[in-house]
Amino acid sequence: MTGRVLADDRRVDVALSEQTRVEISRQKERYPSARSAILPALWAVQHELGYLAPAGMEEVARILDLAPSEVQAVATFYSMYFQKPGGRHTVMVCVNVACALRGADDVVAYLERALGCPSGRTTADGMFTWQSTIECLGACGYAPMMQVDHRFYENLTPAKIDAILDRVAGEAGDDGHATMQAVAMPKAPPSVAPPPAEAEGPPSDARMPGTVKGESVPGQKRRRRGRPEGNDL
Ligand code: FES
Repeated sequence: MTGRVLADDRRVDVALSEQTRVEISRQKERYPSARSAILPALWAVQHELGYLAPAGMEEVARILDLAPSEVQAVATFYSMYFQKPGGRHTVMVCVNVACALRGADDVVAYLERALGCPSGRTTADGMFTWQSTIECLGACGYAPMMQVDHRFYENLTPAKIDAILDRVAGEAGDDGHATMQAVAMPKAPPSVAPPPAEAEGPPSDARMPGTVKGESVPGQKRRRRGRPEGNDL
């Protein structure tokens, strides 16, 4: 049964699916030491549940035949493993040098207005958890950029951000993380192409409107996803 997590920490179920358990076992077989499979195994859990539920980490330890403390130590070391459930979709905005030089601060400010909650929080409807404390994601040539679930979106403008959020909010079916898993975790040999980065055209010099006095922000009034509900990552 597939685990499904709600934004307010209610859980329908946290048991890992058979697919995820098979994936963890497959990762174990890839390496001479089971410890080497901890990272991809945790990734598989997060793909399915949206975060690293304690039961999921215990299952990883069981399958890899490791102490739960070893798995937990790895899980808590890396910032991109989430320890708490968040929204259905995760938005991460790069604020490192290249993106900062090309308007990352304006992207952050725009997202805060568009989503109606500060970085580190989840929208009131539980759709998005977002954060703006992310360092380089490796798409510097297409700055400013952000990652939504497992896809990169580049050369961001307010109009693009609006279109991306609308599209993502509408595509999840009944569980966004299940959708993520189908897209981002093809089995070998790959039968699904890697998620495409959205690099539409050359990097634009257009700055984010809304930071210039008197300039309007497209979609600002239209999208108000509610107040923060105190659901820190
Ligand atoms: S600085 Fe933003 S992707 Fe590298």
